[in-house]
Amino acid sequence: MVKKNTCVFISGQGSNLENLILRSRDNFFPINIKLIISNNKNARGIYLAKKNSIPYIVVNTKLRTCDNQILRTLKKKKISLICLAGYMKIISKNFIKNFGKIIINIHPSLLPKYKGLNTFSRVLKNNEKKTGCTVHYVDEKLDNGQIIVQKSFHINSDDNEKTLKQKTQRLEHQIFPEAIIKLFRNI
Ligand code: GRF
Repeated sequence: MVKKNTCVFISGQGSNLENLILRSRDNFFPINIKLIISNNKNARGIYLAKKNSIPYIVVNTKLRTCDNQILRTLKKKKISLICLAGYMKIISKNFIKNFGKIIINIHPSLLPKYKGLNTFSRVLKNNEKKTGCTVHYVDEKLDNGQIIVQKSFHINSDDNEKTLKQKTQRLEHQIFPEAIIKLFRNI
């Protein structure tokens, strides 16, 4: 199997990145992680990059030249998939167009519900009966593109933001790899 060269964008904890690194060691998993991009030099994901000897760059999104710097590196590394895994910046329309290949994102809610931040507190405030997570294609609008995989679970009366986050992340670690497998089965 020829694996797709993949870049993962992160800003923080990197648990989804860690999971994808593990999965990509499997010969039958369709991607290899060739690059990690972080807009936060203190992200735990940087430690994961070093530990797994994966090239990484820390970018300063305040610089006008940032998008071009990233695009040049993606081209050099022949990246054909970007996975946004907790990347706290909006990807511009121009970037999407210039990259010209697939970009996917993982979001901790049942999209189209609860786009944006603070999903768990909003879900609880609205007394939702269930919540979950979604992997979707990225377009120029926030948390908006076509859904690839979505999974839900029931919310218990004693759930709080912390338990919802834990349960959601456990599910995220299932659906991100599932979505990637589905993606390359469909192409
Ligand atoms: C995940 O919950 C993801 O849905 C959201 O940001 C979080 C990142 O978590 N977009 P991690 O950094 O992968 O642990």
